[in-house]
Amino acid sequence: MTAQKTATLTFSDGTPPVEFPIYEGTIGPDVVDIRKLYAQTGKFTYDPGFMSTAACESRITYIDGDKGELLYRGYPIEQLAVNCDYLETCYLLLNGELPNAEQRRDFEYRVMHHTMVHEQMTRFFQGFRRDAHPMAVLVGCVGALSAFYHDSLDINDPEHRFVSAIRLIAKMPTLVAAAYKYSMGQPLMYPRNDLSYTANFMRMMFGTPCEEYQPNDVLVRALDRILILHADHEQNASTSTVRLAGSSGANPFACIAAGIATLWGPAHGGANEACLVMLDEIQKQGGIEKIGEFIDKVKDKNSGVKLMGFGHRVYKNYDPRAKLMEETCAEVLQELGLQNDPTFALAMKLEQIAREDDYFVQRKLYPNVDFYSGIVQKALGIPVSMFTCIFALARTVGWIAQWGEMIADPDQKIGRPRQLFTGPVRRDVKPIAER
Ligand code: CMC
Repeated sequence: MTAQKTATLTFSDGTPPVEFPIYEGTIGPDVVDIRKLYAQTGKFTYDPGFMSTAACESRITYIDGDKGELLYRGYPIEQLAVNCDYLETCYLLLNGELPNAEQRRDFEYRVMHHTMVHEQMTRFFQGFRRDAHPMAVLVGCVGALSAFYHDSLDINDPEHRFVSAIRLIAKMPTLVAAAYKYSMGQPLMYPRNDLSYTANFMRMMFGTPCEEYQPNDVLVRALDRILILHADHEQNASTSTVRLAGSSGANPFACIAAGIATLWGPAHGGANEACLVMLDEIQKQGGIEKIGEFIDKVKDKNSGVKLMGFGHRVYKNYDPRAKLMEETCAEVLQELGLQNDPTFALAMKLEQIAREDDYFVQRKLYPNVDFYSGIVQKALGIPVSMFTCIFALARTVGWIAQWGEMIADPDQKIGRPRQLFTGPVRRDVKPIAER
């Protein structure tokens, strides 16, 4: 990075002004390099929530929140979702370019021949309660993979990093489906490597050993699209967690487990689950007739109620993934003859009302991808508690691509934010009788 411009920071407390280099990316806002601020002034910057902070340099994913644009390695999500499948998208995120036919075949072969998990992993599932949240199971099982694949844990070896990436992408569907099967009390299904990545996942989810599962092309394509749309999203909370965990030199399985834990929260990946829970709640209270009352509650700051599946930290325009998911949603509902299902009808009405309401319009709160992806997943027969697991499956490639980029960066340092301390100043411990 070379600086063409500089910024000068002046102080009102007598500290001399300091000059910082400004770097330009290929697109997006410039960044002011403040790394020397502390050394030169003894001051930190203060930016909780990272509202104005770029924590890394990256070449993977770009979002323009005002335009509603999402690019993976420069390619618009709208084109990838229509012209590529999930594995091609994975190849792109990992390698920087789309594969040609031969590279695609080789990549698919490698991924599809790492789909089995160590047989002893199945015993982990038996240790969980049947009613455990599948995300709790997933956090545990993905972290536990580090105990099985010692042969690919040298993070400084690019081949080890690549093998770990393939293993994670390949084994996530097996683990996610196993978490579901365990919760249902059904036998775990072994992968079938002759199926496509997504058809194999659906078979492991919905098939049983008693009869052959017939994948439906429209539904496989819909789920594959969900995976593409969730594959990466630059430096969001879970990706930043993966980078921070990885910055200490932790192994990739442990780092991805940390990402899964962060994704679980309702303000992040848990939103599609929270959205369906919200729809069920409105349905119980009277359905479409009660939307007005519900919207009033959302607008009342004291109620603590949010319209789940609306709003985004970065998109202050339509989430481009939401548009694609809306189309997929219509296709799936039509394929399954569910257009008149009460939950789906309620969701569509809620969305229409919210999009016309001043509160949402003024705050630029549009439906995000999770509003529709929850509806599609419900229609596919995926239980609500599994939604975030599907998101984690999809995002694994993004996490591992971002982690790999960070490890390969010669400037990489352990992440260590500082703080504004407002607690007690130094004081002495009194004997217990005097406290
Ligand atoms: N319902 C009602 N009001 C909202 C909502 C919502 N979903 N989202 C934001 N607002 C209001 C917020 O109260 C604030 O109002 P005011 O200016 O009067 O105080 C204003 O809009 C700005 O909101 P903010 O909290 O400053 O926005 P943020 O960037 O910090 O939060 C968000 C982004 C995604 C956490 C938030 O919009 C939200 O909680 N949405 C619902 C959860 C959700 O759908 N999350 C999925 C995000 S997409 C998946 C992903 O990428 O992880």
